[in-house]
Amino acid sequence: MGRLDGKVALVTGAAAGIGLAIATVFAEEGAKVFLADMNGAGVEAAAAALIENGHAATPLTVDVSRGQDVMQMFRTISATAAKLDVIANNAGINVRSDFRHLSDDDWVRIREVNLDGVVRIARDGFALLQASGRGSLINVASILGHRGLRQLAGYAATKGAVAALTRALAVEYAPFNIRVNTLSPGFIETNLTERVLRQPAIRKALVEQAPMRRLGEPREVARAALFLASDDASYVTGAELAVDGGMSAGL
Ligand SMILES: NC(=O)c1ccc[n+]([C@@H]2O[C@H](COP(=O)([O-])OP(=O)(O)OC[C@H]3O[C@@H](n4cnc5c(N)ncnc54)[C@H](O)[C@@H]3O)[C@@H](O)[C@H]2O)c1
Repeated sequence: MGRLDGKVALVTGAAAGIGLAIATVFAEEGAKVFLADMNGAGVEAAAAALIENGHAATPLTVDVSRGQDVMQMFRTISATAAKLDVIANNAGINVRSDFRHLSDDDWVRIREVNLDGVVRIARDGFALLQASGRGSLINVASILGHRGLRQLAGYAATKGAVAALTRALAVEYAPFNIRVNTLSPGFIETNLTERVLRQPAIRKALVEQAPMRRLGEPREVARAALFLASDDASYVTGAELAVDGGMSAGL
């Protein structure tokens, strides 16, 4: 028996990294998974690999920063599934820049993907989550929503907002039996962090800041998402789960 048998899940940013790991773990645990990503070829390949392994997966090419794309995505899901038990609101980007040089275009792009996208999906996905009778909305933020790191202030602002939004939605959606939680990764080896982690001095400094003295793997974040998605977390809402090797707890 899988921990998500009979459940339908949507994972955004599912073509790579943490989103791909979440979609894979959800599918392995029995969920029928919709994989959404703006990288159409990537998400089709990811879904094809899951289907080849006997899982139920549907790719959707979606830019979460575009309201039309998000509405169309939920129309497609409504037509084929009629409910969503789980949404992992995971798609995100960062742009490194000294804050005083952050361009308007870069700031708007970070905000449109990391915050506006999460907002729209949390809002427009409500009806499908409610239809499941026991929905779980997981918003992926970051420990940088609480801790500063040079050149990532814009990114940090969006992630702090996602955590605040999540708490407020946990209160507002509770009467509809929809749980809303934040999943906050520390430093995980993905395309997003590849450039910075490639620099030995930065890598060493970050490893030394994690009490567990190592970086994380996407699958370790996905296992935490599985807990929040599953009925094991049936009384957990408004929580923030850090998956960071202890980094947010202290040195
Ligand atoms: N990797 C880390 O260390 C880390 C730490 C904390 C939080 N996070 C968060 O985890 C989430 C996933 O990050 P990751 O490291 O797996 O990144 P990644 O770059 O490896 O993967 C992100 C995926 O999202 C997709 N994507 C980007 N913009 C999109 C858009 N507008 N619409 C649809 N899809 C879009 C990309 O195509 C890609 O497939 C992000 O929200 C990120 O902020 C990551």
